[in-house]
Amino acid sequence: MKNVQVNAIHLKDYIAPSFLVNHVDLEFILEPKKTIVTSWLKLTRNPDVGGPLVLDGDELRLLSIKVDGKLLETSKYAQDNSSLTVDGLPDTCVLEIKTEIDPALNTQLEGLYLSGGNFCTQCEAEGFRRITFYPDRPDVMATYTVTMHADLKSHPVLLSNGNLIDQGVGKNGKHWARWHDPFPKPCYLFALVAGDLACYEDSYHSGSGQDVALKIFVEHGNEDKCAYAMDALKRSMRWDEERFGLEYDLSIFNIVAVSDFNMGAMENKSLNIFNSKCVLASSDTATDLEFERIEAIVAHEYFHNWTGNRVTCRDWFQLSLKEGLTVYRDQEFTSDMRSAPVKRIQDVRTLRARQFPEDAGPLSHPIRPETYIEINNFYTATIYEKGAEVIRMMQEILGRDGFRKGVDLYFERHDNQAVTCEDFVVAMEDANDVDLKHFRLWYSQAGTPEVDTTWSYDEVNKSFTLNLTQYTPVAHGQEGKRPLHIPMTVGLVGRDGKDLPLILEGEEGKQGETSKTLRFDQEQQSFTFISVDQCPVPSINRNFSSPIKLSTTYSDDDLRFLMENDSDAFSRWDASQNYATRLVLRMVKTIQEGTELEYDSNYAQALARNIADETLDPAFLAQMLSLPSIDYVAEQMQVADFAAVDQARTFLKAGIARELYEQFLELYMCGKENTAYSPDAVSAGKRAIRNVALGFLGTLKNDPKGLDLIVGQYEVSDNMTDRMAALTLLASMEGEVGEKALKSFEQRYSHDTLVMDKWFAVQAISKIPDTLGQVKNLLTHPAFSYKNPNKVRALIGSFTGANPAKFHADNGEGYRFLADSIIHLNGINPQVASRLLSPLGGWRRMDGNHQKMMKAELQRILDTENLSKDVFEVASKSLA
Ligand code: ARG
Ligand code: ZN
Repeated sequence: MKNVQVNAIHLKDYIAPSFLVNHVDLEFILEPKKTIVTSWLKLTRNPDVGGPLVLDGDELRLLSIKVDGKLLETSKYAQDNSSLTVDGLPDTCVLEIKTEIDPALNTQLEGLYLSGGNFCTQCEAEGFRRITFYPDRPDVMATYTVTMHADLKSHPVLLSNGNLIDQGVGKNGKHWARWHDPFPKPCYLFALVAGDLACYEDSYHSGSGQDVALKIFVEHGNEDKCAYAMDALKRSMRWDEERFGLEYDLSIFNIVAVSDFNMGAMENKSLNIFNSKCVLASSDTATDLEFERIEAIVAHEYFHNWTGNRVTCRDWFQLSLKEGLTVYRDQEFTSDMRSAPVKRIQDVRTLRARQFPEDAGPLSHPIRPETYIEINNFYTATIYEKGAEVIRMMQEILGRDGFRKGVDLYFERHDNQAVTCEDFVVAMEDANDVDLKHFRLWYSQAGTPEVDTTWSYDEVNKSFTLNLTQYTPVAHGQEGKRPLHIPMTVGLVGRDGKDLPLILEGEEGKQGETSKTLRFDQEQQSFTFISVDQCPVPSINRNFSSPIKLSTTYSDDDLRFLMENDSDAFSRWDASQNYATRLVLRMVKTIQEGTELEYDSNYAQALARNIADETLDPAFLAQMLSLPSIDYVAEQMQVADFAAVDQARTFLKAGIARELYEQFLELYMCGKENTAYSPDAVSAGKRAIRNVALGFLGTLKNDPKGLDLIVGQYEVSDNMTDRMAALTLLASMEGEVGEKALKSFEQRYSHDTLVMDKWFAVQAISKIPDTLGQVKNLLTHPAFSYKNPNKVRALIGSFTGANPAKFHADNGEGYRFLADSIIHLNGINPQVASRLLSPLGGWRRMDGNHQKMMKAELQRILDTENLSKDVFEVASKSLA
């Protein structure tokens, strides 16, 4: 490591700010290469805390400082490369600071930058300090008035938070606008946009009778791709009123879509800024999954208006306070809009694919971390998705009404405050008169708990005993794990496939329940159900009531039985995943031993009975028929062998395809609809099952019929979902048929940058022999740019993160390619660079040869000059 200043921040060091800011006046003279920012901060000394005023600043050119209108002598302040310290200020004053910044040079996309010639901002977490000197911490909340001056012709739209209060035309082709946000907010929620944008408008009439103007601003030519996001926004607003009693609080709500954005979107007060990928959709350009994602992200950002903006975080260690809670809220929204079981299954897939590995690896951290070097590295699956699971468990424990009471009390107590995760839990406790002391451990303890279960049936006493043992493996730096309070929902399935009534020993009073949430809070616990008149198969952790890894003593027969009978849709699906994982792992062993692979048809037969069950929702059936990913199966091995898992999984898939050939053909043919495309969940479910069927047919080599269907679908489909499903299959086929489809797709969509991302990604995840060579060639394609995060993620990220068998190639070329990419991106955009890194952190789970190569690449990254804090933190923790 060279030239890195390592400075870890610790939760235990928190101290309140020495000065509070009552109001901020900002003025921007916007020019691409030279923007002048003047701020007037109305300051009050915090009586509880002493010390000078310390303002954060990053890559700013200080022009002048004035206190109450008088120029401050240079001896009264001190500046280094990250702060400005002013001593001897009166208890209240107005501090005026003038700075110069260069938005055109800002390739980090944090602070004020240009995207397609338009000015925009991203301030979370610490981007505001790249705009002006400020106490850049979320517990400093102020009202803002913002005046912007820009060129009228090139930047006719001027936006900031709150309400437009004045505007005018100035000299030399300039114009200006002034916005005022009446709600006190931390600076990470500040936003500004100045550009030449088209506007898609609508309005919303709230439950209490307020009218809200809704506007989505996009680059010209994209107006026809806003309708779905707008509809999702209106449904979110309605849903939040109905489910949580939360109404919008201003008469205007703006969304701006930009092409260059580090993450998905940002909840700036009344001026959400989105990655255009998370807004723009039409049947010809977006897949069903993308429609669903847009709906969820629009909702997520909108929901932040209460969970995040009205009540915000005291410090960044509390990030999950707003993110976990808001993810939980958007998940609930989606399950109300679409299918609840399918949503739950998708979320668990994501959790298992992204959060479980993170929590088992070198970057493991609790949902409320205790230390960080670069906060941007902590926008993780743990903070977001595990955070949401922790909220969900509380709602499981307290019930929906109890949870709602807790949320109500939380807002009653903390509106307009910057608070902690603890405050949220206390509100839950106080509103319900319960003690969640033990439960809190979920906030501070990292790692995924592993729960072992055994059970026994007592024929004589007609009782069934479930024995649970929990253990949380030691993740990085956290010894001495304690048992957690795990809400464990279980059911007992009788021989006829129906749930048996549950009577827990000692709780004879309650009757009629067939699912029960057990309080499992010790290392070992047994639960006995009485009056169980036959030996059942237990269904455990129904609806994934807790984010754990479950290990059971199910026989193959038990799993097939649950696959066909469990009344809990999630557990039914999980039994299927479990079974398939088992089969693939058995085959991996055979491959490693060098013996002949054998195909076991029992799994396919259980799937066939699901296909034959006409009561099943097609979207759910599509999930039942989707095999666990290569990553997920490899994750279950002591030493991961991606090549063998890939081979075994493909073998299983082809076996199923051969065995259920007729069923898949029928699913494909019968699901065909002649109506125009609609992105709704029911229509999407029908497409999903057809495309799953097509995927099975596509695994059969030398099957001209399957190939014809795929090519035919690619050529005639009227929507991106079907076209992309076919292209994905074709792109993995060697020779002309794949190349031809890719060429035609490129020609058709070369004008549409978001669709081109899909074209890059589909080639990066291809199974053709030289995928990496293809990816490297595409780096010089005119549509590719290292400066655009979507492009980097589509091409480089898809190869290194979503094509494990290729990435882990025995010659180490995949690793070298990733390290080269990170080193290059480090100088352009550290956040994007550091997010790409995680696959290299998995070296501990590889064999010695792969380990050596991966560690060497991590070391090479660490030896790079001018390494950013972002990359340094992830690379050094990955290697440690
Ligand atoms: N608060 C945003 C969201 O979850 C995420 C923004 C994070 N951006 C960043 N650069 N760390 O919706
Ligand atoms: Zn969020």
